[in-house]
Amino acid sequence: MRTLAKLAALAWVAAASAHAQDAIKPGVDYHSFSNVSEFRVKHVSLDLDVSFKTKTLNGHADLTVLRENPTARVLVLDSRDLDIRSVSLVAPGGTATPLTFRFGDEKKFLGRPLNIDMPAASPPPVASAGKRFAAAESVIRIDYSSQPQASGLQWLTPAQTNGKKLPYLFSQSESVHARSWIPLQDSPQVRVTYDATIRVPKGLVAVMSAAHGAVGKPDAKGLVAYRFEMHEAIPSYLIAIAVGDITFRAISPRTGVYAEPGVIDAAAAEFSDLERMVAACETLFGPYRWGRYDILILPPSAPYGGMENPRLSFITPTVIAGDKSLVSLIAHELAHSWSGNLVTNATWRDFWLNEGFTVYLERRIVETLYGARRERMEDVLGVQSLRGELADADPAHQQLAVDLRNDDPDDGVTDIAYEKGKLFLQFLENRFGRDELQKFLRSYFDHFAFQSIYTEQFLDYLRANLLPKKPGAVTEAQIQEWVYGPGLPTYAVFPADDVFAPVDAARKAWLAGTLNTASLPTREWSTQEWLQFLNNLPADLPRDRVADLDKAFALSKSRNAEIAMAWFLVAIRADYDPAYADVQRYLLTIGRRKLVRPLYEALMKTPKGAALARATYSQARPGYHPITATAIDLIVQPKKN
Ligand code: BES
Ligand code: ZN
Repeated sequence: MRTLAKLAALAWVAAASAHAQDAIKPGVDYHSFSNVSEFRVKHVSLDLDVSFKTKTLNGHADLTVLRENPTARVLVLDSRDLDIRSVSLVAPGGTATPLTFRFGDEKKFLGRPLNIDMPAASPPPVASAGKRFAAAESVIRIDYSSQPQASGLQWLTPAQTNGKKLPYLFSQSESVHARSWIPLQDSPQVRVTYDATIRVPKGLVAVMSAAHGAVGKPDAKGLVAYRFEMHEAIPSYLIAIAVGDITFRAISPRTGVYAEPGVIDAAAAEFSDLERMVAACETLFGPYRWGRYDILILPPSAPYGGMENPRLSFITPTVIAGDKSLVSLIAHELAHSWSGNLVTNATWRDFWLNEGFTVYLERRIVETLYGARRERMEDVLGVQSLRGELADADPAHQQLAVDLRNDDPDDGVTDIAYEKGKLFLQFLENRFGRDELQKFLRSYFDHFAFQSIYTEQFLDYLRANLLPKKPGAVTEAQIQEWVYGPGLPTYAVFPADDVFAPVDAARKAWLAGTLNTASLPTREWSTQEWLQFLNNLPADLPRDRVADLDKAFALSKSRNAEIAMAWFLVAIRADYDPAYADVQRYLLTIGRRKLVRPLYEALMKTPKGAALARATYSQARPGYHPITATAIDLIVQPKKN
């Protein structure tokens, strides 16, 4: 039996690597050029001017570099579309010695290596001007500018903001976009502290994923300097900046909301549970270790729903539904303060350690704040979405530890990492009990706090610390199947879907014609129940029935971005063209990849839809974030001009 299990496990691993060139090496980051075993960047100090005129950041980054290998002579950094003016070695006294540098070959998705010739011997330990240098540390100054098309930045015109008067800038560094605005070792296994001086035109406010320091007076050029310091060591993908007409409203002494003035009231009302969420997560999983927890509401072009930048999550305004029904997204980004930011995936193959764990934590927070029914609904919708994705996904991409060597790591953002990862933890909860799993997770977060780990390190910790609590409850073969196997194990533990029984019954009766449209009990439906209703309508629903729904419930005008998206999929499938103007409006105002991508995909299935998709996209593309544009380009293939 044991041997059989082992053989089965080996088969999974073999199947996993069969399509690839060589066996993948756990812990090796194939998405970074940096030579992390020879040099390690420990601290990044930024000094940047923000120019909206040229859509560039201009200034320098000082990297404190530790030499790990005494014979190493070339420091390799990641870069993408950066203009490097000079590189120098800064002596403790401040004198700079130029260093030679050159770019290596460009690689798809990854940019170019920046090779810097390092002096043979590091400066001796000197203490001066209050700064201390360890024996093998040196400070490398890189004078540079970002380029307007930087993949990690979006520069918005005033027209693209809520206030329409001032421009806006925000970053999105995960997965590998920090390198498009800072030259550094852009690998999640390298952790750095950072500080920054950011100069912005008078009237604009700068915020970062760090402690906020003093704000200066306007200088001769009319620029105001903002100071930031991040004292905890974080991976580069968590370095974040936003600049705009940004104001702040406190929710509690340690939490609050940043947003444009025209959005702040709605945002503060929607997210008034922020403090309760932090408190709930602390009770479940241990202390919040980042000081403040604030959120920043971005303009609607934000490519992701949320981004867990430490101390300051960046959030899409599309979760402001007016009834707190989409706030699980905040619970999710907050939960990353434990799973992801405290214990970080070492490579993008290990992304499920970030996201699968976070979905599990998120659901526990939602249950605590909004009850088991709401949590169960979100669980069921998650599994549905996962099943849909598994039906289309290449089996080689269905493992939790997924081989992304030939892929853009941004394409690893699938329900497999999120919902299959969550189901693995749910399975462990089922076998060991909730209390035992919770204790285990707390100790996991303590044990690996402020470290980056890969899948096999987690598995070793699991074998040593959870499995012995109930010998035999989970077999090695099961662990292997979860992590290295495709699809879902037959013994996965699914949420009971009886929470949706009334909605499902109503839908069936309506479809059978025994319940008329006006009698659908929608008045009591939450967002989640609407999604269940819409997502499970038959693909061949006749156009007139679609029209009935729209007439009764004005779904094309829904202000709830998730409901609207689910509805538009129904409308497009039935070629219900009265909705098309609203589809177009939606695609022109919202840039969140997860919401717009399925709509373009659905439109492209018919010639008429494709024409609409093309016409809309040519108008919408200039306003989309580079990450969203990259995804939609693949679907719509706009005519090159
Ligand atoms: N960290 C992710 C966003 C991300 C992942 C950006 C990979 C770039 C590469 C964030 O925490 C996230 O998961 N956001 C989700 C929301 C969540 C509730 C599932 C999103 O944006 O939809
Ligand atoms: Zn996440």
